[in-house]
Amino acid sequence: MSDSPELRRAAEAIRKSRKLAAFTGAGISVESGIPPFRGSNGIWNRYDSSLLDIDRFLRSPARSWEAIKAMFTGFLATADRAPVAPNPAHRVLAKWEAEGRLAGVITQNIDGLHTTAGSRNVIEYHGHCRTMTCLDCGKTVPLTAESTAADVPRCSCGGLLKPDFIFFGEGIPPKAARDAEELAATCDCMVLVGTSGAVYPAAALPPAAKRRGATIVEINPEPTAYTERGVTDVFIARKAGEAMTALDRLVSADGKDGE
Ligand code: APR
Repeated sequence: MSDSPELRRAAEAIRKSRKLAAFTGAGISVESGIPPFRGSNGIWNRYDSSLLDIDRFLRSPARSWEAIKAMFTGFLATADRAPVAPNPAHRVLAKWEAEGRLAGVITQNIDGLHTTAGSRNVIEYHGHCRTMTCLDCGKTVPLTAESTAADVPRCSCGGLLKPDFIFFGEGIPPKAARDAEELAATCDCMVLVGTSGAVYPAAALPPAAKRRGATIVEINPEPTAYTERGVTDVFIARKAGEAMTALDRLVSADGKDGE
């Protein structure tokens, strides 16, 4: 990938940053084989998103669970299939955190790939799909292909099990909300990777960072609400894997020149 002026400007902002944050969406996991929600290959083109409304889930759990399994089984390991793996974009963010360059990742994704890639400070703004919680007794159980084999997975107490990711109409996990707002308010550069900026309150985090003076770098093959509304300062119209790999090369090289 040739080093465009945008890529160089982004690398400079990242290298100079004293508190760098990342904000990621489904697009960062597309090169790991997980489709995005919107756009030509979007999940919402194939499934009715209202099946993930919390009220709908409580009224007709069997329909919702059928859609949940179809949508998210891609990243569940099964007997004959390994789980999906992080791609270079996830790995660069983990590398920057290990180098002390990145303060943390705020992710809207529930696939756990940032953690699998080695990131430690991952704020899972929409929860995750590692476990399910019983809506009657509160017990938590691992979410696996086996524990979700039944049409409507139930707890040993008979209660309904709900995956620990956020359904439409549910609040953001309080600690994740606090940690994300704190990071957005204190970072001096935020790299947006693979998000359409379509869903609130998550979508309000980059503008909040911008208002506090942060430089906003956006990586997305398509322009988004952030690009069009002038939230983005540097727009890199590339896929996540190639853009993040090129940025890491420039940021690391800049560092050596500066020594
Ligand atoms: N690299 C980078 N970006 C990509 C790539 C890629 N290879 N492929 C697609 N994209 C971009 C798309 O252009 C789009 O702008 O990723 C974005 C994905 O947008 P969405 O599918 O809307 O995903 P996201 O922004 O994470 O959605 C937010 O909506 O349905 C809810 O809870 C769900 O967390 C999700 C939230």
